[in-house]
Amino acid sequence: MNPQAELLNRAISEANPVVFELLSEKGRNIYFPAKGLVRQGLDASTKRINASIGMAMEDDGSPLRLKAIDSKLNMPPEEAFPYASSYGKAELRDIWKNIIREKNPSLGDHPITRPVVTHALTHGLSMAGYLFVDEGDEIIMPDLFWGNYRLLFENAYGGILSFFPLFEGSGFNTAGLESKLNSPGEKKILLLNFPNNPTGYTPTEEEVGEIVAIVNRAAESGKKIVMITDDAYFGLVYEPGVFRESIFAPLAALHKNVLAVKVDGATKEDYAWGFRVGFITFSNKLMNEGMAKALEDKAAGAVRGNVSNCAHLSQSLLHAAYKSPDYREDKERKFALLKKRYERVREILASRYASSDLFDIVPNNSGYFMCLKLKGIDAEDVRQRLLNHYDTGVMAIGDLIRVAYSSLPTDLIEQLFENINNACKDVKN
Ligand SMILES: Cc1ncc(COP(=O)(O)O)c(C=O)c1O
Repeated sequence: MNPQAELLNRAISEANPVVFELLSEKGRNIYFPAKGLVRQGLDASTKRINASIGMAMEDDGSPLRLKAIDSKLNMPPEEAFPYASSYGKAELRDIWKNIIREKNPSLGDHPITRPVVTHALTHGLSMAGYLFVDEGDEIIMPDLFWGNYRLLFENAYGGILSFFPLFEGSGFNTAGLESKLNSPGEKKILLLNFPNNPTGYTPTEEEVGEIVAIVNRAAESGKKIVMITDDAYFGLVYEPGVFRESIFAPLAALHKNVLAVKVDGATKEDYAWGFRVGFITFSNKLMNEGMAKALEDKAAGAVRGNVSNCAHLSQSLLHAAYKSPDYREDKERKFALLKKRYERVREILASRYASSDLFDIVPNNSGYFMCLKLKGIDAEDVRQRLLNHYDTGVMAIGDLIRVAYSSLPTDLIEQLFENINNACKDVKN
């Protein structure tokens, strides 16, 4: 093992050996190569003559650049063209850390790591896989999940997705979670995504209290738990009584046997899907500065070995947005638009399709999506029928039709459900 990895492992173990035990083999071996080319580049960066790094400079010392690109940018070239750090742009990491605290008041002043920038959430989840998933490890999650988890955790790291039914009646299936978490084996990896894709469900405040108690009981009984939260749709909660913080917050300082890993980012929250900026952040009850820095170094090392570093231009644009005085108000306006669509969906479903013999409405209260569970009708056939006869596109996932009302002008929502209803009838007959 590289001595730099050993140093990081020691810092983690000294604070809490459980967190070290939770690392995968790759996670134990990874380190940020602070002494190699990166260090030499940093050493040279303040020198008058810097012939160290693999970029090119104009004779005036600014980044060498093409007019066709530069003319489109309304920002200093230094904020767009050079490489960003593998950890991410420092100012962005700090502002995002403050944003996490602001949006999750129950974190209180418990330490969390400085978020490390990832190439959006997919890559953040992949880095969580790199650090914690070994071949054959189970990743526990609800049975309704984002399909890309298979490629992310199974194909890339040899993990095995292991499901419990998301719902018990119309609420979160706490008993299913508890029995999965207490299945044989000491190390447990749990992945929760709220608001959930595909259902648009977020647990109520009461349900979150139960989930936290379940994780605590499992930890007390000796389970060692990596708790990954995929917060892709964070903040898009439309109903009172539904948990508004990330479930990372109540788990961050819960128990020494729980390592909380928050994966989040601008993609859906800030409507910047193509920017590819996400973050990975850690917390544990016994986290001290040494452990925090070591986890950041390991995450940044994994990023460096994977994509080297993430797009500087996107990071600068987001940093500018988060500092902008208009950001919050603008974001509230966009939230209001999505909420209006959510309410329109509820209204139409409640008034026309509450007791349909074609489909049930899957519980939903947040996010971008809602689902209809078809009653003995093939969802793919319905999808095809919608495409071919109704000029309408939806997703078919198992026996569910997923509707992304987030992407639909409000005045088309009524027509959409009429089309789905008719297509279901057509396929049934
Ligand atoms: C639940 C969930 N997590 C993560 C992602 C990936 O987000 P990103 O585009 O930031 O990689 C998605 C995208 O659809 C998602 O639905």
